[in-house]
Amino acid sequence: MILGIIASACSGSGPQSSLEPEGPIAQDIDDLWQFVLILATIVLIIVMAAFLFSLIRFRERRHDERRPKQVHGNTRLEIAWTILPAVLLAVLAVPTVQGIFDLRTPPEGPDVLQVKVTGHQWWWEFEYPDITADDGRSLITANELHIPAGVPINLTMTSADVIHSFWVPPLNGKRDVVPGRISNLTLTAGVEAPPIDNGFGPGVILGQCAEFCGLAHADMRIRVFVQTPDEFEAWAEQQLTPAALPTEGAAAAGYDTFTQVCTACHQATVARADGTIETVGPENLIEPRGDAGAFRSSFGPNLTHFGSRTTFGSATFTNVTEHLSEWLANPSDLKPMLPQFNDIPEGRILGMPDFGLSADEIGGLVAMLQGWE
Ligand code: CUA
Repeated sequence: MILGIIASACSGSGPQSSLEPEGPIAQDIDDLWQFVLILATIVLIIVMAAFLFSLIRFRERRHDERRPKQVHGNTRLEIAWTILPAVLLAVLAVPTVQGIFDLRTPPEGPDVLQVKVTGHQWWWEFEYPDITADDGRSLITANELHIPAGVPINLTMTSADVIHSFWVPPLNGKRDVVPGRISNLTLTAGVEAPPIDNGFGPGVILGQCAEFCGLAHADMRIRVFVQTPDEFEAWAEQQLTPAALPTEGAAAAGYDTFTQVCTACHQATVARADGTIETVGPENLIEPRGDAGAFRSSFGPNLTHFGSRTTFGSATFTNVTEHLSEWLANPSDLKPMLPQFNDIPEGRILGMPDFGLSADEIGGLVAMLQGWE
């Protein structure tokens, strides 16, 4: 078993490794860790060498009845082994403390992109407060965070329920996301985009909630899409455009089902044929302490442009018809749900573990959602 544990350390690093930084902040953390590792390894080698030397050189030998030399204290030696570690710790403390302060300082300046993050059981909500449409709506999406390469992203984070922790290992350390409070985290991806390909597509970096937050904690995942500034701008503009209201076929029937069932929790911004823009579904403003203002939030992910996302269910399932149909038939088959979340605003009760949708209704919803690219 011990061999198994040791051997597991040799497996190649997975897509969520801190040891393969994809940006300057993660690079700083990695450099610090390499520095500490080298110093600690040198100390380990010296201490173990002295220990083994004493063990072998001064071991008890057969037929050797001499008593070892009896000593009591050695002032010089004791001063040396007090001062030397103190100096070593001081050497380690300087870059460590400096690094901690650097990492805690939110980035400033006109090029910083602000993103408000709300942790939910069990998904992530992202609002870009400075990216707004003519009517004042800001860009809101879920679980898949798009960022331009080389730009510092200031995440202002809070939680709608319990403590979560936002962690995208190749970009920065983890930071707790606490209800009623604000925490900040900076993400900066490397200047060249998209430099990364871990088998999830170019520019895609995986993350994960890192604080146990209930049944589906393991399925509270994050995907970061690193784009060139131009690609990012095009994405943002497209996301701000209201989703087209389907007028015929399965998708139109799907929209009826959507407004009867799904909008109890989910929001979507749609454009009617006559050009009017309407946001359906409930808004749940969250106001943590501090001066970050209200977090525009929803009870479930905002589904405008759902079809443009590669995944659903907090970046856990691939956004394909097969999985989406299965999810709509009974989400808790795929991911744990809590029965207490069945209480929907306005006193409606939805069977969250089973929406009770017919095959036709599911087909219509899938057609509508995937059509919202
Ligand atoms: Cu959220 Cu674990």
